[in-house]
Amino acid sequence: MSDRPVIAVLVSGSGSNLQAIIDASERGEIPGRVGLVLSNKADAYGLARAGKHGIPTAVVDHKEFHSREAFDAKLVEVIRASGAVLVCLAGFMRVVTPVFLRAFPHRILNIHPALLPSFPGTHGPAQALRYGVRFSGCTVHFLDEGVDTGPIVVQAVVPVHEDDTEETLAARILKEEHRIYPMAIRLFLEGRLTVQGRKVTTKGAGKIPDFSRRNPDA
Ligand code: GRF
Repeated sequence: MSDRPVIAVLVSGSGSNLQAIIDASERGEIPGRVGLVLSNKADAYGLARAGKHGIPTAVVDHKEFHSREAFDAKLVEVIRASGAVLVCLAGFMRVVTPVFLRAFPHRILNIHPALLPSFPGTHGPAQALRYGVRFSGCTVHFLDEGVDTGPIVVQAVVPVHEDDTEETLAARILKEEHRIYPMAIRLFLEGRLTVQGRKVTTKGAGKIPDFSRRNPDA
């Protein structure tokens, strides 16, 4: 068990995606284990989740650093010490700098609650509702220097219901996040992802059947 490759997960809040990753790892669905949970907030519930599974945690408070680069340099130091081969941002509410990105090239994943490139930034579900789209969803992507712009690994689609609130839509999206984040991690750790420019190809992926989905269904 313990010689499985280490994943570092960075959280700022609830950590339900972290939980999905831990659960998938404990069920043997991903060939790796969470070996570090790192947060910029001491009260992030994700840290308590890690504690319940005996996973080492660390807090690096961004407010104690004079620059984003200095904060990122500390993150890099802590992550390197964990031996992580993959870094997963899961509700980590800080924009990172090249100091962080260049330390782990093509080894940082992020999850976003919208079908990128639509609705990047914060409040993806609220933006989708305001815009009036009929479908939204979630995206796991490699991190690059932009905000939510990196090469896309997995996306899942969910319908937007006419009576949705931000909360109901976010909850429907979150359910899919919990499926696709462990999946993306599995593909990464199985060595099946190749990144060329913007495009990620997946070795051995089955072909999605053609489908036609309309919304509304009237
Ligand atoms: C998720 O919606 C994720 O897409 C976004 O932040 C939220 C984190 O939720 N980046 P949780 O902390 O994993 O519950």
